[in-house]
Amino acid sequence: MQILDGNLVSQATKDELKIKVAQLVMEGKKVPHLAAILVGTNGASETYVGSKVRTCEEIGFKSTLIRLEETISEYKLLTAIEELNTDPDVDGILVQLPLPKHISDERVINTIDPTKDVDGFHPVSVGKMVQSLPTFVPATPHGIMLMLEHYKVETKGKHAVVIGRSNIVGRPMSILLSANSNPGNCTVTLCHSQTKNLKEICRGADIIVAALGRPEFVTADMVKEGAIVIDVGITRVDDPSKKRGYSLKGDVKFDEVSVRSSFITPVPGGVGPMTIAALMMNTYKACMAKN
Ligand code: GUN
Repeated sequence: MQILDGNLVSQATKDELKIKVAQLVMEGKKVPHLAAILVGTNGASETYVGSKVRTCEEIGFKSTLIRLEETISEYKLLTAIEELNTDPDVDGILVQLPLPKHISDERVINTIDPTKDVDGFHPVSVGKMVQSLPTFVPATPHGIMLMLEHYKVETKGKHAVVIGRSNIVGRPMSILLSANSNPGNCTVTLCHSQTKNLKEICRGADIIVAALGRPEFVTADMVKEGAIVIDVGITRVDDPSKKRGYSLKGDVKFDEVSVRSSFITPVPGGVGPMTIAALMMNTYKACMAKN
């Protein structure tokens, strides 16, 4: 069993970007600039956006964090996005999800200029991804592909089972794994809450991507000997023994599944850090497209 170490691969990716940014500075060119909008004070969102901004600083990107009140009107949020769209210094825009209930995710995503859509959530970006055209690929599935590539995990012809059909992870993951690419070229089954005999389908999988957000959902009896297991889950579970009052749990029961698998991602330290590295790559790409 080999651990797919997201901390290690993301650090390597960030180090490469750091060198590229230093090169831009030497040439007197503009450095990549990521603008993040955070609405409200959701604890997990605060953590994620905080890491994104910190990583920008680490590698020499410029970043702007716009904090808006939970009660902000949709109109005001859309106006803030439009200002970033027209700001020539801003290369990438991300609006952290989830948004408060009174705001439409769809209208927000559709307002982002597709050339600055570093999250890859705009329908133009999604359409291009589906057709394997150059575009911004959503950070989590992109990060997973980068990790498979780094460890030279053979995926061609394998049966990949993706659990979860979200626009952020499961659905784009299913598209990327089925593409004529390396990694890729998988036969993909996309499972969700209405799937019958999920356990049986998982038992037939060479690759399992668990992205449903249910702690320790994937157990040893669902995993074939030698399978590759990618755990996207990261749920806060109450844990009074921890100073912060919670611990982070993946969608995979790591202790029992890891002994059956050929490759597995830990939580934390697996997919999470890769997600940030992929976002940084997208932001660099957005900047270079303009230079
Ligand atoms: N919420 C959970 N994942 C993501 C992500 O990748 N991007 C944004 N904007 N919000 C998220």
